[in-house]
Amino acid sequence: MILRSVSKNIHMSIIPRLSMRISSQMTEAINNQIAYEASAVHAYIAIGSWCERTGYDGSAAFFFEQANEEHSHMLKFIHYLNNSGVEPIIPAIDKPQANFDSLESTFQAGLKSEQTVTGLINNLVEIAENEKDRATYSFLQWFVSEQMEEETLFETILQKFDIVGRDKLALYQIDQSLTTIRSKVMTMGNDQQEPTAN
Ligand code: FEO
Repeated sequence: MILRSVSKNIHMSIIPRLSMRISSQMTEAINNQIAYEASAVHAYIAIGSWCERTGYDGSAAFFFEQANEEHSHMLKFIHYLNNSGVEPIIPAIDKPQANFDSLESTFQAGLKSEQTVTGLINNLVEIAENEKDRATYSFLQWFVSEQMEEETLFETILQKFDIVGRDKLALYQIDQSLTTIRSKVMTMGNDQQEPTAN
């Protein structure tokens, strides 16, 4: 009994390690970003899964890698909130789209998602500017460059459907060329220092 009341008091006396360093508006916007990155993880896993069972092995690997990247983005924001003295909200996730009309439509879905993320990141930057929150502004610069790279990646892949074609052989060639396309776009690069994800 005594032990239980002591442990309860210890629990109640736990206080956050750091003082709150960002505004409630920025906290809400970053939590919204965490929710979007989390939903992107599952959306890309679902696309990768469709590709895998449809026989597009290169595309499956591509989208599973995209899911890993989104997971690392989510963690970067979670770490940022924790290190800013506020609690990140780990969200529930709705079931993502599981079936697609064509290989091309999976990359169209990817581009649309990345364009949404770019808009959300730009909104975060705008809040940081308005609030003169220089630390968050600086933290966000890597994501600004990352989004340029992500949109370029999906646009480059979608362009291949116009160049190579949409018949079975063309789709096979595109599916097999994704690793090369990714590494070419990545070498054009994000020069910003990457915030840590783990
Ligand atoms: Fe985390 Fe691809 O945006």
